[in-house]
Amino acid sequence: MQIHQINLDRLKEFETPFYYYDMELLHRTLAAAKVAADKRGFHIHYALKANFNDRILQAIQSLGFGADCVSGNEVQKSLDMGFPAGQITFAGVGKSDKEIKLALKEQIFAFNVESIEELQVIDTLAGELGERANVSLRINPNVDAHTHHYITTGLDENKFGVPNSELEQAASVLRECQHVDLVGLHFHVGSQITDMNVFKSLCVKVNEWKNWFEERGTQIKILNVGGGLGVDYHHPDTQPMPDFEAYFDVFDKFLERNGQQEVHFELGRALVAQAGSLVSRVLYSKSGVKKNFLILDAGMTELMRPALYQAFHKIERLGSHADAEELNYDVVGPICESSDCFGKEVPLPVSKRGDLIAIRTAGAYGEVMASRYNLREEIRYVYSDAFQLV
Ligand code: LLP
Repeated sequence: MQIHQINLDRLKEFETPFYYYDMELLHRTLAAAKVAADKRGFHIHYALKANFNDRILQAIQSLGFGADCVSGNEVQKSLDMGFPAGQITFAGVGKSDKEIKLALKEQIFAFNVESIEELQVIDTLAGELGERANVSLRINPNVDAHTHHYITTGLDENKFGVPNSELEQAASVLRECQHVDLVGLHFHVGSQITDMNVFKSLCVKVNEWKNWFEERGTQIKILNVGGGLGVDYHHPDTQPMPDFEAYFDVFDKFLERNGQQEVHFELGRALVAQAGSLVSRVLYSKSGVKKNFLILDAGMTELMRPALYQAFHKIERLGSHADAEELNYDVVGPICESSDCFGKEVPLPVSKRGDLIAIRTAGAYGEVMASRYNLREEIRYVYSDAFQLV
């Protein structure tokens, strides 16, 4: 149920702020991604970091997606939610020994290894536990994702992956490892990427590195090209999901696979972002010296993206009439930081205390990045189908 179609009186009964999840849109998005991937024989591991809410994970798991994790707790959560161990990958530059041991004992599908030293640690720990570890080597391909610099990960100056200059050494360490099997190569160049040329450039690099290994007699089974597909934050209703066909088409066309390699993706945002809205109440409407402020009961503690990345989210007053008189507002939260602002000069119908405001496309990196700063309440959520506050 789209947020506009909800009975406003019903919605007003709920204590704000809360995340509202449109389960119908979520299912539709997941189905579209799955059809487009299956058609090409591609595998999707959902990146849990985008949203690890139970109902969302259930929906994703039930469709047969794998899980892409970046902590031991995410690995454990995936297992608890029914993702088979054989479909779980574990990435991240700073895996602790405890986390590595958990993943080894659970015999997850693969570690995405980010440095030579990590490779050696996994080999040692696997030996101690009498386990074998599948690894994919994360290569930093130095491809510019043309996205916000905080969410660019594939450039030489980023901390992620093994740089080209160390690959020779990585390959020789891999040959020495007794308890590790190289199954794949892993790449991830950034998030919220909307220019398909970025993925095309990535394919060129993936081909180069796959050939590099093959020329040295190492067969690569898995090409893991990461996630990063962006969504349209400006048009949540008319563009409610990314063009999965166009996205997968790029990899279908430009990745050389010799008919042998499996292609794996780690999509997060593209699967869940549009399904979530942060719903908040206007606490106060205040005319400053130069500005009109709408002060909400949600702040950067509930949705950090605008404060952290100057990210745009569409802001709407629920129950607005098309001909309502408008004002430009700075829409802010209650937190004691000037960066606690969801949008500046946002045209909205003249609003008053008690009105409901929806901040759209907040289903990815929203609830999961919430904090208790200022000793705020834990964030609540409402699902469109159950329509109960949890
Ligand atoms: N794989 C790896 C190795 C990643 O680092 C990430 C995201 C993903 C997959 C999933 O990327 P996605 O498909 O969601 O773009 N908090 C930021 C986004 C950080 C993304 C971190 N890595 C934001 O709110 O925009």
